Amino acid sequence: MQKKSYKILLIEGDGIGHEVIPAAKLVLDATGLDIEYDRAEAGWETFERIGTSVPEETVTKVQQADATLFGAATSPTRKIEGFFGAIRYLRRRLDLYANIRPAKYHPVPGATPGTDLMVVRENTEGLYVEGERRYARGRVAIADRVITYDASFRIADFALRLAERRKGKLALVHKANVLPLSDGLFLEAAYDAASKHPEVEIEEVIVDACAMRLVRDPGQFDVLVMENLFGDIISDLTAGLVGGLGIAPSGNIGEEAAIFEPVHGSAPDIAGKGLANPTAAILSAAMMFDHLGEYQVAAAIEKAVDLTLELGPRTADLGGNAKTMEFAEAVAAKLREISK
Ligand code: NAI
Ligand code: MG
Repeated sequence: MQKKSYKILLIEGDGIGHEVIPAAKLVLDATGLDIEYDRAEAGWETFERIGTSVPEETVTKVQQADATLFGAATSPTRKIEGFFGAIRYLRRRLDLYANIRPAKYHPVPGATPGTDLMVVRENTEGLYVEGERRYARGRVAIADRVITYDASFRIADFALRLAERRKGKLALVHKANVLPLSDGLFLEAAYDAASKHPEVEIEEVIVDACAMRLVRDPGQFDVLVMENLFGDIISDLTAGLVGGLGIAPSGNIGEEAAIFEPVHGSAPDIAGKGLANPTAAILSAAMMFDHLGEYQVAAAIEKAVDLTLELGPRTADLGGNAKTMEFAEAVAAKLREISK
């Protein structure tokens, strides 16, 4: 059989993006797959140099690649004329409507054993339409929270297809008891989508109860789908359940492109020192191969990460003294061993 080849775009971005992406590339190189790499730039450093955080060339390259691995991008806290957040721009521009954030147990301090779930977050609407206004001489503020049938149907359908590949269980997370028109519409669309996947067992969970149940017993959930803000908050909670930022991966998936990225940011406090834990970036690469249908490669990367986390070396955030590249080299070596 002819080996498939992949066009993978690497965007380092800013800060520790320059460390975790080269580290993840070591692991990509050890997969044995035929990978053609391309590179593009985005983020704050790009903005400072050329006046835009996402050049058109980068957008085109993301569209042309089979998948993109993104590091992290800095957003200044003050408002800067003409600046926009790189990853948010790419999500919107390329309609990467599904934000998927797995929370799976890996052997690190503070992680809850038995956790293996997937938060599917709607990535295009909700409060993130950024429609805010003030009234009454500035003493009243209103933010629009947009829920549409089409976006709700599309994200529910995505989650249902994912649930079919996993345990056949899907939780619809909502607040329709307080917001029957908007979250009621979300549920209506989700049930319409579910009628085409009759083998998936559906459970409705109110978002606050969902948060409590996740903390008490995350093992009871498999795939959870929700609108944008709920997904933002719940997926940080689930990242916390499995050990936090250094290891949490994510994917932004649309019809024409997909970007995989660690959940963490550019970590200016440790950037340039070789202290960054590349696990989240490496697990994002595993998600990328899963998305591309390379299920065995994805599973092998995860296994290599777990063995390395168990046996060491570990990075400083996990109590070890390995540098970013040392840890990645150890994972790459394990991956080669497993794939032999
Ligand atoms: P952050 O995730 O960059 O850092 C939070 C804390 O976690 C820091 O103490 C950092 O040292 C630590 N940390 C993060 N990743 C780590 C890793 N791989 N290994 C070891 N320690 C790690 O979040 P923060 O500080 O709020 O934001 C810094 C910059 O990143 C900001 O400009 C922010 O806008 C941006 N950001 C970008 C994101 C993205 O590109 N998707 C996501 C979150 C923040
Ligand atoms: Mg967040």
